[in-house]
Amino acid sequence: RSTEALKVAVVGTGYVGMGTAVMLASLGYDVVGVDIDERKVEMLRRGELPIYEPGLEDLLRASAERLRWTSDYAAAIPEADVIFICVGTPPMAGGAPNLQYVAEAAQSVARHLNGKLQVVVNKSTVPVGTGDWVSRLLEEHAENYHANRYVVVSNPEFLREGTALHDSLYPDRIVLGSDRPQGIARMRELYAPLLDQTFTPPACAPRPEGYTVPELVTTSLSSAEMIKYAANAFLALKISFANEIAGLCECVNADILEVTYGIGFDRRIGHRFLAAGAGWGGSCFGKDTSALISTGGEYGYAMPILEAAIQINQRQRHLVVNKLQRHLPRLQGKRVAVLGLAFKPNTDDLRDAPAHDCIARLTALGAKVRVHDPVALAAARREWSHLKYDEAQSVEEALRGADAVLVMTEWPEYCALDWDVALSGMRNALVIDTRNVIRTRPRYGTVEQIGRRPTLMGA
Ligand code: UGA
Repeated sequence: RSTEALKVAVVGTGYVGMGTAVMLASLGYDVVGVDIDERKVEMLRRGELPIYEPGLEDLLRASAERLRWTSDYAAAIPEADVIFICVGTPPMAGGAPNLQYVAEAAQSVARHLNGKLQVVVNKSTVPVGTGDWVSRLLEEHAENYHANRYVVVSNPEFLREGTALHDSLYPDRIVLGSDRPQGIARMRELYAPLLDQTFTPPACAPRPEGYTVPELVTTSLSSAEMIKYAANAFLALKISFANEIAGLCECVNADILEVTYGIGFDRRIGHRFLAAGAGWGGSCFGKDTSALISTGGEYGYAMPILEAAIQINQRQRHLVVNKLQRHLPRLQGKRVAVLGLAFKPNTDDLRDAPAHDCIARLTALGAKVRVHDPVALAAARREWSHLKYDEAQSVEEALRGADAVLVMTEWPEYCALDWDVALSGMRNALVIDTRNVIRTRPRYGTVEQIGRRPTLMGA
């Protein structure tokens, strides 16, 4: 069978589903994306993405002839050889993920299975054991039930927002978990182009220099499910560790940038994900660490390292306004500029963004807040209507007349700012740089960073 012959359905068109659908279409497969949200389906049909993700819209348009979007399971599932479930698993109170959407997707898929060999792939982040549960749901709800005719595979996704396109075409590893060999075999066939060093990638997403094909890791269903959580928990832990050391650096007059640079050359540690700052946000780390703790709780098993990682992350968020108040104890009536709303650069995603908590606290303390973000202002208008702030269309406008500025997201344009010029428009040149973006000391003003003594920087 040629690779073109495999037909793919992707259920759920959030970050992961959309990325997966577009990536597989760019590899030459016919892909149909299914979403019950008609509005999203309409947008995608027009070639527009409901979210901001660099490069993905170009690839969506370039692969349009192999992509279809529908809200009708009957138009997608019967003809698919591989069916991805990529629906959301939002956290419930207590930290466990809500599997309602997975259940609904599995039941709808089941009703349209064709009775031949079909592989149902869980890409949603789901607790260990969910694959078996999905298998049972398929069996219960299949109208065309045929024993052994469908196989459930766990294929966790490791892409990062902001670099989704790169991460899905050039992953470090592909993890496939199944308790049945047919599932692994078909998925290996599906991913064959990514596992082939001679494969020609789409023109708009060229292969990075020195890239080698990913490791294919095949495991049991439950190990694959665990790998996803363990990977995110470890990354969250790594960041919290850097933040904890950063706090001590401030006490003893060491510099976290020098320290992480120094430890990162040890290959066992590495340089990545050691950037101290306002702490991790986004839809994954908080949700997945809490979910692991909650799974542990079901077995009476404590997870103190993860508990601590979460605690440090919360402390880090408080630190931002605390640092500001060291210089401006009374914030009543003070004008504070906030640069960056998104939880990280190159996205308009605001979920669990540290900027949210800072703005809420600043306004509670009576400060007047003016914010800037290169792409997330519109998203904030929709999602943060409960917060009180003014919008600025440029950094200059945000800083004009301000008593302090908080840098909350390391957008490239903030890293490239000439801070001497930027600070000159402020009433009081005070910067709380929570992402350590300022690398050259401004001629005047006070710069507070994370894990670096303020005296190192100016004042
Ligand atoms: C994360 C993982 O990195 C992906 O591998 C995974 O697939 C994804 O979650 C998921 O489970 O869907 P993402 O949340 O998009 O990806 O973003 P990251 O780049 O991991 O950043 C997460 C947060 O950590 C951001 O708020 C970022 O500012 C912060 N961070 C990251 C730091 O504070 N320091 C660092 O050194 C790195």
